[in-house]
Amino acid sequence: MAKQVYIETWGCQMNTYDSKRMLELLHTVLDYIPTEDPAAADLLIMNTCSIREKAEEKVFSCLGRWRKLKDKRPEVLLAVGGCVASQEGSVIQQRAPYVDIIFGPQTLHRLPNLILEAQTKHGLAMDISFPAIEKFDNLPTPKAEGPCALVSIQEGCNKYCKYCIVPFTRGEEVNRPLDDVLSEVMSLTEQGVREITLLGQNVNAYRGVMHNGEIATLGILIAYIAAIPTIGRIRFYTSHPTEFDDTLLQAYGEIPQLANHLHLPIQSGSDAILAAMGRGHTALEYRAKIKALRKLRPTLSLTSDFIIGYPGETEKDFADTLALVEELDFDHSFSFIYSQRPGTLAAALPDDVSLEVKKHRLYRLQQQLRLQAAQHSQRMIGTQQSILVLGVSDSDPFKLMGKTENNRTAYFRGDSSLVGQFVTIAITAAAPYTVEGELVHEPAYA
Ligand code: 5AD
Ligand code: SF4
Repeated sequence: MAKQVYIETWGCQMNTYDSKRMLELLHTVLDYIPTEDPAAADLLIMNTCSIREKAEEKVFSCLGRWRKLKDKRPEVLLAVGGCVASQEGSVIQQRAPYVDIIFGPQTLHRLPNLILEAQTKHGLAMDISFPAIEKFDNLPTPKAEGPCALVSIQEGCNKYCKYCIVPFTRGEEVNRPLDDVLSEVMSLTEQGVREITLLGQNVNAYRGVMHNGEIATLGILIAYIAAIPTIGRIRFYTSHPTEFDDTLLQAYGEIPQLANHLHLPIQSGSDAILAAMGRGHTALEYRAKIKALRKLRPTLSLTSDFIIGYPGETEKDFADTLALVEELDFDHSFSFIYSQRPGTLAAALPDDVSLEVKKHRLYRLQQQLRLQAAQHSQRMIGTQQSILVLGVSDSDPFKLMGKTENNRTAYFRGDSSLVGQFVTIAITAAAPYTVEGELVHEPAYA
């Protein structure tokens, strides 16, 4: 019988992508099949994230549960991967000597070898190195799961924002060559994919080598992907304001397949805090980029990440953030309480905003963002929106469910043959994160 693998994935879309690639790799090379039941698994993998919260403690509490499974069936393998493994590999080795495999985000392609190594030596197999881009050369062709697909175009980050652990856990920025990205996209389109999300920590810094030796920016990559006739929508996630260059602006002007949405994290609206974070730009510079973009895309949905309670954040700094949120009319965004990450530059600063104040500011910001998301949705009533149909609604078998360009879930009556297609609906009702509508156009081509 084929062996079963259970993967627990924490954190971001990068980890979601990595977990999916691990499953494909383990299936192709060692015939493992995925299971949702940890007790049935022969191999349990924790794909960890260390960007916020108490990640290390979470690893050990999960390992405590998994150890009981291994006590019952000693042949079960326990593996810890992802960013916590990358940074704390030797701590895990010491505190949980029963763990069989420790690997980092850049060595997941070596999992089959690590499994064999752990089995033959009945001891730990560990590899948390950063071997440039070889990861992608050693992964099987990705399998599509529905009409949307994630495609990693870049690993790591060079920005070293003072609060952030990513450059230490995922290493420095490495870009995949343009042709590699395009052939992955082509293979996904052949499997029915219609929407591509390009992934990386800082994708707008993408510099992909082309076959003629020239370098493609993200704007150029998007233009190549948009030339594939069946690709109806392109997104990218996530980006940095200083790298938002003219070729990307031009792409928003010229490429209708580029979704009418931009996730461009600003973190804070205060220049003092932006400088203290080492973000490399001011609030005014950010505003200027958004204003230029909204000239081309007046209804663009703009979303961001915000960090609340960074060391030294005063009530005035926070008021600047709230004012910017209103002025730039941010849509539904992510906001986090600052959490000190060991090894980062900010970890040396006193974490001087009390938890109570952080929570209250977070609450105020989230209320404002929710209000604005509701207003964005309300403005959609009466408009026509392009929807990528993802499936039949869970609550009503006569309704379909899909996604708008601005990331709202849309419900409308329609035939299930439309799943996987783009349709146009007229919006009739709206809540902050969902809309309802009526079918206007069926797809131009099926
Ligand atoms: N504390 C809180 N939030 C953080 N982020 C990154 N590091 C931290 C930290 N130490 C947030 C940022 C980033 C998002 C992915 O996670 O907002 O954009
Ligand atoms: Fe972290 Fe800054 Fe890099 Fe984003 S750009 S991953 S916040 S260091």
